[in-house]
Amino acid sequence: MTETTANAGGATTADAEAGNQTLSVTDNRTGQIYEVPIIDGTVKAAEFGRIRVTESEPGLAVYDPGFTNTASCRSSVTFIDGDKGILEYRGYPIEQLAEKSSYLEVAYLLIHGQLPTKAQYETWVHEITYHTFVHENLRSFMEGFRYDAHPMGMLQASVGALSTFYPESSRISDPDLRHIQIVRLIAKMPTLGAWSFRHAQGKPYVYPDNELGYAANFLSMLFKMSEQKFVADERLIRALEVLFILHADHEQNCSTNAVRSVGSSQVDPYSATAAGIAALYGPLHGGANEAVLRMLRRIGTVDNISEFIEGVKSGKEKLMGFGHRVYKNYDPRAKIIKKACDDVFEVTGVNPLLKIAQELEKIALSDEYFVKRKLYPNVDFYSGLIYEALQFPPEMFTVLFAIPRTSGWLAQWLELVQDPEQKIARPKQIYTGDRTLDYVAASERWK
Ligand code: ACO
Repeated sequence: MTETTANAGGATTADAEAGNQTLSVTDNRTGQIYEVPIIDGTVKAAEFGRIRVTESEPGLAVYDPGFTNTASCRSSVTFIDGDKGILEYRGYPIEQLAEKSSYLEVAYLLIHGQLPTKAQYETWVHEITYHTFVHENLRSFMEGFRYDAHPMGMLQASVGALSTFYPESSRISDPDLRHIQIVRLIAKMPTLGAWSFRHAQGKPYVYPDNELGYAANFLSMLFKMSEQKFVADERLIRALEVLFILHADHEQNCSTNAVRSVGSSQVDPYSATAAGIAALYGPLHGGANEAVLRMLRRIGTVDNISEFIEGVKSGKEKLMGFGHRVYKNYDPRAKIIKKACDDVFEVTGVNPLLKIAQELEKIALSDEYFVKRKLYPNVDFYSGLIYEALQFPPEMFTVLFAIPRTSGWLAQWLELVQDPEQKIARPKQIYTGDRTLDYVAASERWK
């Protein structure tokens, strides 16, 4: 930042680099004018720290609960244009990846920044497959949970516990060690997720079948009983792969921010990932698809839709699965999931709630209330229907989100630990409490 009266030299280079893109700020308390460089559509919050009335007072800070208008990092992982409904991983449109790629290739793309060659892909798949098993003590650890433990709580705890099995993971500046932890995490998530599911059902844990692909092996660990080999329908395997691809990353959302924030302390990636799982556990982040199912059940039949819509428009409730903080257009993931629904229902039979969802969507998309507010279906509108058709109870929905999101979290973590601009996350506050009170001993106060 340059001031007109002082410190004028500092921003010349930045101004020039930014093509003289600056913001002029007048501090009406002092009459001082400051020039703040605008770089990549942002201004550095630290620049405002120089705006102060006297040298002894703290500088101006930016207040932004929920980071609604604050960029916390530079990232080349995922691009979103919410107005146009565009989502790209490393520059590739989500539609193309969902149609033609596999989850493990997408995971490679997110982590490495580019698509693999054939040899790189084969090595990657081999590495992930080789690491699907977990230490037997971790199995005992999981068995110690209560019979009705929530699978997401189990997943979070067991991923955190992994750091104790790999103490070398704390050496996060070693690229080889970083790589092996990333491989282990992506490989073991389906195992831990499936065991969390089996635990609540009182069923024996099923070991990975390394002859199967990533999604097929996950289905085997979830549903295998006494058969020698569990072979899921190819259409279901592909639908799960597509869902995994769609959920792999979504730039700086709540759980990714949690991974980055915790990771900024330079803790190991297992602990940082466990923080991401904790964030995803919350109903405002990973739980909306369950709310959609509850809503569809409550509506019950197509005949009740108009009454329901009137209730939404009069502010009584929300149309769950509609609207998004970033997308002010059709969420591109929702379009793809809608198509995947058809493929899944071809195998499982149609979920009767689908008809209500489709009709609801049709009416909402032509209703002025929703059109004016740019409310379109989001990723959660149809995903719960698929998960239910695949026989998952609602408690598993967030686990199904956490498994593929692990590759995105780790791509973002990797970017964080290699970014020289990053510091430990430590926001400011506006202090609103008391000051300089005199402590009176309890023996005096309780007389
Ligand atoms: N149904 C009815 N009205 C809605 C809905 C909805 N689902 N979403 C937003 N609106 C209305 C708001 O009431 C507001 O109306 P107003 O201008 O008359 O006050 C207007 O649209 C703008 O909404 P905001 O709440 O300001 O939008 P915001 O970006 O803060 O919220 C959110 C986004 C939380 C996703 C919201 O749309 C919502 O609650 N949707 C339903 C829950 C849901 O589906 N969540 C999943 C999101 S996807 C994900 O997290 C993976």
